[in-house]
Amino acid sequence: MNTGLFITFEGVEGCGKSTQLGRLQAWLEDQGHSVVVTREPGGTPIAEAIREILLDPAHTAMGPEAELLLYEAARAQHIHEKIGPALAEGQIVLCDRFADSTTAYQGAGRGFGPEVLHELHNMATGGVWPDLTLLIDLDVRVGLERARNRGRKDRLEREAIDFHQRVRDGFLALAQSAPDRIAVIDGDNSEEIVAQAIQARVEAALAKRIAP
Ligand code: TMP
Repeated sequence: MNTGLFITFEGVEGCGKSTQLGRLQAWLEDQGHSVVVTREPGGTPIAEAIREILLDPAHTAMGPEAELLLYEAARAQHIHEKIGPALAEGQIVLCDRFADSTTAYQGAGRGFGPEVLHELHNMATGGVWPDLTLLIDLDVRVGLERARNRGRKDRLEREAIDFHQRVRDGFLALAQSAPDRIAVIDGDNSEEIVAQAIQARVEAALAKRIAP
């Protein structure tokens, strides 16, 4: 029985994860895999509505508790309605951000501690956790510059550089604590080189999945 494969992409603003997710999708589909592509916050109508609330730059009054709970609420709905069922059907799920983003942004960035995050992650995910996480690491100034060129900045992108630096450090600390799951990919390379590094990691994960 195929149990599915859950792959997440993580990293600071402008690290290139969405581009790389698209490339990985095409690469997997070329090999005949069917792939479910989704993102956080979002991925279902309810979670996309929560995304609008979270990222609206007009929502400057949002407190850190509401922010944290909204990210987890969006995740709970996403797992319930989309990711859980897809994995149960044996699909490969590619998700642009997941719970590690909460640990980096709301944990390292906003200062929430590991206990509360652990509790909320458990509640939101119901224990569904990525098999492989591709952390595309990049200098925050380079990433923010790229993000700026994309146009209007969302609420989180407007945070100070120190916040984004804490987020990057938070991601790297997470990767150190879970080296078997989280692969750190150097994002300061050509799109092609980054894509090749990602494909190598995914090939290994696929081989592990079909191994007897
Ligand atoms: P995106 O720009 O990569 O689509 O992500 C949306 C923003 O939400 C980005 O600034 C990171 C932030 N975020 C959190 O702060 N916590 C989370 O749990 C997630 C999933 C995203």
